[in-house]
Amino acid sequence: MRSLSAPIFSLLLATLLGVVAPASGSPHSTKRDNDDGGDGSGIPTVDNAKNPLCKPWYAIRDAIMGGIYHGRCGDPARASIRLAFHDAGTFSLALKAAGLPNGGADGSMLVDPNEVLRPDNNGLQNIVSLLQPLPAQFNVSAGDVLHLAGVLGVLACPGGPAVTTYIGRPAPKNIAPDGLLPNPNSAVKVLTDRFADMGFSIRELMALIGAHSTGKQRFVDPALAQSSFDSTVDIWDVRFYSETQNATAAPGTFRLNSDVNFSHNATTQQDYNRFVGNQDNWAREYANAHEKMSLLGLDQSTLTDCSEILPLSIDLKDLSTSSSGQQPTDPVIDPVKLEAAIQKYRSIWL
Ligand code: HEM
Ligand SMILES: *[C@@H]1O[C@H](CO)[C@@H](O)[C@H](O)[C@H]1NC(C)=O
Ligand SMILES: *[C@@H]1O[C@H](CO)[C@@H](O)[C@H](O)[C@H]1NC(C)=O
Ligand SMILES: *[C@@H]1O[C@H](CO)[C@@H](O)[C@H](O)[C@H]1NC(C)=O
Ligand SMILES: *[C@@H]1O[C@H](CO)[C@@H](O)[C@H](O)[C@H]1NC(C)=O
Repeated sequence: MRSLSAPIFSLLLATLLGVVAPASGSPHSTKRDNDDGGDGSGIPTVDNAKNPLCKPWYAIRDAIMGGIYHGRCGDPARASIRLAFHDAGTFSLALKAAGLPNGGADGSMLVDPNEVLRPDNNGLQNIVSLLQPLPAQFNVSAGDVLHLAGVLGVLACPGGPAVTTYIGRPAPKNIAPDGLLPNPNSAVKVLTDRFADMGFSIRELMALIGAHSTGKQRFVDPALAQSSFDSTVDIWDVRFYSETQNATAAPGTFRLNSDVNFSHNATTQQDYNRFVGNQDNWAREYANAHEKMSLLGLDQSTLTDCSEILPLSIDLKDLSTSSSGQQPTDPVIDPVKLEAAIQKYRSIWL
C-alpha cells in the first residue's frame, strides 16, 4: 500500500471505520470527504482537481463509468476487470530476462486487432470495441484507458475497493506473446508457477482470483453459458470463496476447476482461507494486487497517481439484512439498501 494519496488514505480509513454508504440517520453520514460539488455523492469533481495532470481524467472516468457502465456492475464492468487481467497477464519475468518480446499492462488489447481474437480472449470483444475509441478521443494512451476501465469496473461493483490508479503509460512496445494466460484446467502448480512468472505470490493470486466474485462463464461450458461463479454476481463479496470451497455448488453457479483446486490444495488453501468470510482482508489485499497487476512491465516512477478521480467504494457492511452482533460468514445484502447506495454514490452515472 505504498504511495497512497491523501484522499485514498482517508477513503481506506473511512472504509475501515465502516462509514461508507451509511444508513440514513447514521452519525457517520457526514464523514464522507470527497469533494463532490455538494451533491452528497462523494464523487470528486474536476473543479476540485488536485494534480493538474489528472484534470483530463475526470471526463475519461465519466465516459467509462457513465457512458459504458451506467454506474453499475453489469456485463461491461465485469468484462473490463477480466480485460485488465488479460492485458497485463501476458507479462513474463522469464521472457523479459531473456530479452524476448513481452506483454504487460500496456493496453495492447486495444491496439493490436488480433490479440482479442485469440481463443483466450473470447468474450472480451465487446468491451474492447467499447473502449477502443477513447484513446484517440481524449488523446491519451490505450494502456491508461484500459487500466482505468479495470479499476472503475471493480468500483462499479458494490463492495469493490479503490485501487490506486496511475496514468502515463506509453504505447505498447510489441505484440503481446500468445499462450501466457492461465487455463482453468491446468494443474495448480502450473498456475502458481505462471503467476510467479508475472511476479505474483500465491497469496496475491488467491486475492486476485476473487475477481471471479462478479464473473460469469460463457465458453468453458457453453451449455451453461451465463452461469456466475457465485450466487451474488452483482456484488464484490467474499461469498465466492466460501461457495467455491463448499462440497456442493450453490444452485445455478458454475465453478472453475482451477478455483476449486486452489480452495483445496494444501499449499494454496492457507492463503485462500484468509479471504473466506473476511471482506476487509480481501478488499485490502485485492486492491494491492490489482494495483501491481496494472503496473506489470511498466516503470512506476514515470507514472502519475490519479487516484483522486475515483469515487468512494460502496461498503457492503451497511447494506446487510442481518442486525449487528452475530454476522454470518457471508452476510445477506438487502436489495433495497443496495439500490439506495447505488443511487446515492453512483448517481451521476446511472
Ligand atoms: C488461475 C487464474 C485464472 C483463471 C484460470 C481464469 C479463468 C477464467 C475463465 C475460464 C473465465 C470464464 C470465461 C468465459 O467462459 O466467459 C473467467 C472469467 C473471469 N475472470 Fe478469470 N481466471 C483467472 C484469473 C483471473 C484474474 C487474476 C482476474 C482479475 C483480477 C480474473 C477476472 C475474471 C472476470 C472478472 C471474469 C468474468 C468475466 C465476465 O463475466 O464477463 N480472472 N476467468
Ligand atoms: C496529444 O498528446 C501529445 C502528448 O501526449 C501531444 O504532444 C499532442 O500535441 C496532443 N495532440 C493534440 C491534438 O492535442
Ligand atoms: C483440478 O480439479 C479437477 C476437477 O475438479 C481435477 O480433475 C483435477 O485433477 C484437479 N487438478 C489438480 C492439479 O489438482
Ligand atoms: C498444490 O500446490 C502447490 C503449489 O503450486 C504444488 O506444488 C502442489 O503440487 C499442489 N498439490 C497438488 C496435490 O496438486
Ligand atoms: C454449502 O452447501 C450446503 C449444501 O448446499 C449449504 O447448506 C451451505 O449453506 C453451503 N455453505 C456455504 C458456506 O456456502
